[in-house]
Amino acid sequence: MSRSAHPAGPRHADVLPEGHYAAPPTDLNALDGKVWAQTVSRGGDGVVTVGGIDVKTLAEQHGTPAYILDETDFRARARAWRTAFGHDADVFYAGKAFLSRAVVRWLHEEGLNLDVCSGGELATALSAGMPADRIAFHGNNKSVGEITRAVEVGVGRIVLDSFQEIVRVAHIAQSLGKRQRVQIRVTVGVEAHTHEFIATAHEDQKFGIPLAGGQAAEAVRRALQLDGLEVIGIHSHIGSQIFDMSGFEVAAHRVVGLLKDIRDEHGVELPEIDLGGGLGIAYTSDDDPREPHEIAKALTEIVTRECEAAKLRTPRISVEPGRAIVGPTAFTLYEVGTIKPLDGLRTYVSVDGGMSDNIRTALYDAEYSVALVSRTSDAEPMLARVVGKHCESGDIVVKDAFLPGDLAPGDLVAVPATGAYCRSMASNYNHVLRPPVVAVRDGESRVIVRRETEEDLLRLDVG
Ligand code: LLP
Repeated sequence: MSRSAHPAGPRHADVLPEGHYAAPPTDLNALDGKVWAQTVSRGGDGVVTVGGIDVKTLAEQHGTPAYILDETDFRARARAWRTAFGHDADVFYAGKAFLSRAVVRWLHEEGLNLDVCSGGELATALSAGMPADRIAFHGNNKSVGEITRAVEVGVGRIVLDSFQEIVRVAHIAQSLGKRQRVQIRVTVGVEAHTHEFIATAHEDQKFGIPLAGGQAAEAVRRALQLDGLEVIGIHSHIGSQIFDMSGFEVAAHRVVGLLKDIRDEHGVELPEIDLGGGLGIAYTSDDDPREPHEIAKALTEIVTRECEAAKLRTPRISVEPGRAIVGPTAFTLYEVGTIKPLDGLRTYVSVDGGMSDNIRTALYDAEYSVALVSRTSDAEPMLARVVGKHCESGDIVVKDAFLPGDLAPGDLVAVPATGAYCRSMASNYNHVLRPPVVAVRDGESRVIVRRETEEDLLRLDVG
């Protein structure tokens, strides 16, 4: 369909259906630096570039859909976290946000540690040369096989999540003639202001051992008695995509309270606390995330103040940002396939991916932004919904967004801030092939996770 033949679809304000919409942006060609990776800009010809390469070239070389990751930005963010926390604290990148061997190498080079939560993540980390003592192993139901491997290779810490696991890890370590460094994950009873499925410190959920009712104190009591374990500290993770620091403040207060009780009961001052990850990023221009140095300052001050009040030596702090490092560094590049204006409602713009490469909108009602990136346009804004190619009406990538009214099949659009929890949560629904991750830097692009092929699919199908 030619561009001019395409009906522009519903316009803005006067025909907005019921719902919550920001006003259409004054300039649809502008790219808000808050939501786009650091090296993204629009070239003089109107085509968006990242890492010195324009998106049309990237689409030609690598196809669409594709996750395009700005390596310079990734390294800068990793370094900013590392620098902000200095030498008295450790930063563990949360691999669940996105993990590949290239990413492991970048983290290693930038001086970060790594949090893994499955045998697969551990294998990826080890195969890319992350030293085992810089790895933390998480999870609420680690298998005996996973624990054995982690202890054998000598991971720096295992975060214990249940009473069963305390005994299990101690037993495995002892049978291997080792003493495993462990932290005990507690739930502090904080309701983080985020989506129910990604809040983790209130009591009615599966992670950690509640402080309430003395359960966490009992877990520490038991762990301290077991020869196979060296208890190095307490861990708390309150949730994800959090902007408000007050949850961390309450968590730090309660964790330090536990450290004090442990000192009073056992005469032991545990040397470390981990405050988890969960710091929010900007998915749309409405989000205002904090900088790593502000977060580091706030967390360090809270812990120091609480420890002074409790007359404890300040423990070494660690944090586990995932989304805040990788999230903003990537965008998903799609090609527009079909455009369906629905009178009085909105225009459905179908792209060549969907819920298989970004499940977050369907799962958490997440909000994203989107821009036309292969050209500029002066057309009127139209209210659009960007949807995928899956056989499901909930297959929505961007629920409400304004795109130029002359958008046409063949145009490239990009959804920013898809570096975290998109490729790592991607699926093969409808046997759609998972997109590649392409790293760009200094005018060069490099596939770090290749596109899935039909051969990959058929290789697993051995019936
Ligand atoms: N540490 C622990 C123990 C965690 O469970 C998590 C995330 C993190 C650190 C990293 O959190 P981050 O800084 O990336 O927010 N799939 C969801 C998020 C699930 C988070 C699970 N745990 C999403 O797409 O929003």
